[in-house]
Amino acid sequence: MKRIVNQIFALVLTSLSLHLTSYAGSGNNSTSLIGVSSGQANAFVDSLLSIMTLEEKFGQLNQQRWSSDSVETAEYRTAIRNGAIGSFLGIHGAEVTRDLQRIAVEDSRLGIPLLFAHDVIHGFRTIFPMPLAEASSWDPDAVEKSARIAAVEATAAGLHWTFAPMVDIARDPRWGRIVEGSGEDPFLGSAMAAARVRGFQGDDLSAANTMLACAKHFAAYGGAEGGRDYNTVDISERTLREIYLPPFHAALKAGAATFMAAFNEIGGIPMHANGYLINEMLRGEWSFDGLVVSDYTGVMELQRHGIGATPAEVGMAALQAGVDVDMVSAIYINDLPEMVRTGKLSKTAVDEAVRRVLRVKVRVGLFEDPYRYCDPQREQTLMLAPSHLSHAREIARKSIVLLKNDRQTLPLSKEIKTLAVIGPLADDRWSSMGSWAAAGRPEDVTTVLQGIRNTVSPETKVLYAQGCEVQGSDRSGIQPAVNLAKKSDAVILVSGETANMSGEASCRSTLDLPGLQLELAQAIHATGKPVIVVLMNGRPLTIAWLAENVPAILETWFLGVQMGPAVADVLFGDYNPGGKLPVTFPQTVGQVPIYYNHKNTGRPSRDDDYFTSKYLDLPSTPLYPFGFGLSYTEFAYNNLKLSRATMKASDTLKVSVEVANVGRRSGDEVVQLYILDEAASITRPVKQLTGFQRIQVAVGEKRSVEFTVTADALALYNRGMKRVVEPGTFSVFVGGNSVEVLEERFTVVE
Ligand code: NOJ
Repeated sequence: MKRIVNQIFALVLTSLSLHLTSYAGSGNNSTSLIGVSSGQANAFVDSLLSIMTLEEKFGQLNQQRWSSDSVETAEYRTAIRNGAIGSFLGIHGAEVTRDLQRIAVEDSRLGIPLLFAHDVIHGFRTIFPMPLAEASSWDPDAVEKSARIAAVEATAAGLHWTFAPMVDIARDPRWGRIVEGSGEDPFLGSAMAAARVRGFQGDDLSAANTMLACAKHFAAYGGAEGGRDYNTVDISERTLREIYLPPFHAALKAGAATFMAAFNEIGGIPMHANGYLINEMLRGEWSFDGLVVSDYTGVMELQRHGIGATPAEVGMAALQAGVDVDMVSAIYINDLPEMVRTGKLSKTAVDEAVRRVLRVKVRVGLFEDPYRYCDPQREQTLMLAPSHLSHAREIARKSIVLLKNDRQTLPLSKEIKTLAVIGPLADDRWSSMGSWAAAGRPEDVTTVLQGIRNTVSPETKVLYAQGCEVQGSDRSGIQPAVNLAKKSDAVILVSGETANMSGEASCRSTLDLPGLQLELAQAIHATGKPVIVVLMNGRPLTIAWLAENVPAILETWFLGVQMGPAVADVLFGDYNPGGKLPVTFPQTVGQVPIYYNHKNTGRPSRDDDYFTSKYLDLPSTPLYPFGFGLSYTEFAYNNLKLSRATMKASDTLKVSVEVANVGRRSGDEVVQLYILDEAASITRPVKQLTGFQRIQVAVGEKRSVEFTVTADALALYNRGMKRVVEPGTFSVFVGGNSVEVLEERFTVVE
């Protein structure tokens, strides 16, 4: 018996090597698949497919989560030998991935290598700012560099695939996953999505230090009703196309090799069974040829959604909708072979999904060298490399937004005599990293307290008190903190949320500072000492009292391993903050959803007119608008000029403006361009971001900034959902945030 199996095995190997050799014969002088045309790769994949059993095919579509349980891992090893697993998630490490890869390549019948995936969201070991924070930098090049470094580290630990970037637009800060994305705006979100894809994937996916990106969660996951994670989404096709889909399209255009389906339904159809959006739009209209992976147990959850009565039914629904890989549910592998045998599921749909998985394996070079990514030597030397840490500090300080700075409270002098650092997050290493910290370790983090201690003069006395817990109700620490404040010349109050108060399944019904933190702030403020609030949080918070009362506020989000040095750089003036908000800060949670690119109603908001769209008890304006952020210097905007007063849709328009640094320090400014189509066949947002540039301006310098506006920025989906530019008058707004802007107009003619 064994001899027969061996003979079959030998035959298969010969057959495989024949295919490989045929590539060698067709121009390549090795058996490498790297660099072969997609036609050749497709031929290889087809021949491999032709010798696979049905079970082996479903094995390729089966993704499992690696486990620390020895019984489970033993089962997984057997499953790999049987060709019943195609990829793992939640795994990393050169040794363990090499060991499993060896089983797949040497002990399984066909020797098809495994893919190893992980959520490398904002750094692997060197943890960078959370994506929402990085979006506050408005610096796509810097964000691309973070993703590049993340890939360098992650691939050295055996990984081929990251479940990032998360490109979901979020207009509701109650939704905890707002922290994983780039905020509320599709244009900024698209720039960040593309930057991250470029960073992860580099120029050559088969290189040992690049990895597959995964645009997620397709689609409209951020539109969850009530800001409650996983909840129902019910939005129009227009809002979907105008607001939620652009970052996905941008990720695709940047080359994203994989997409992940979202947990939510849209208008009655769960995304894991949404053939219209996955097969027709993503694959058809957008020509995406990569693979689509389910979210964690997303296939199984279709039963809970009520889309099928049995695992087999929902498995078929997902596969037929275009979900290629079943993450963790094990429904494809367990329940679908029988469906094919009984003719209920077409073999063609299965083959197509398997092809996509194999093609991805070809693209990352696994058939050439399955061990390329698991190199203990590289793993040892690359983690936390000095250049990685210096970028972590650079992007962290670029991500800080100065929300308030009355009477030039900041920057502080390093020679300050006594400084109180107060607050439950001041020395919280773990929260500094934020959620999804991959292989990040708390011991790698320099906290705000440590950063301050390392920066002030040796003569400065730094006093520290926690004051209260982030969420607790214990008041006993408040008075000691007040006593400390009284002894100090200034107080730095580090307040906000712990890392696990945002992220997946971490939604809140209020946006207030949790626990007793506001009470602590009020008690410290009552001492009369200058209070500088450093906010650490994963979402916009309602901080009206702070905004009204304390002289200085820094929004720092979760900045990663270099949080402390970056915050200290800003507090003591070694770095002039230039970040801007990628999301609107409401005055109260009752204003949510509130976002800058809203529509006008027939009765736009006016506080002095009763029958208008407003709240009786609150203005409609936010606390801090989208795009807002101050600097230690001041910028003056002048001479907004358009290159023409009229244009055809085929023309381009140049928009220029002069930005002068009229303050006393050099600094960065994010110059923002917004457009409004004044009258169209459908309603338009009051403003839409269509360009931005982060520039450095020296003291006294005046810089001319130019934007090019093309048809794409002016286009809309008309009533027939065709993307067109309609003739008419447009307004152009340019400024340092979405509210304080200069304005010009031009006309588009036929
Ligand atoms: C569920 C999350 O929604 C998704 O973003 C993540 O990639 C998977 N779990 C895997 O960890």
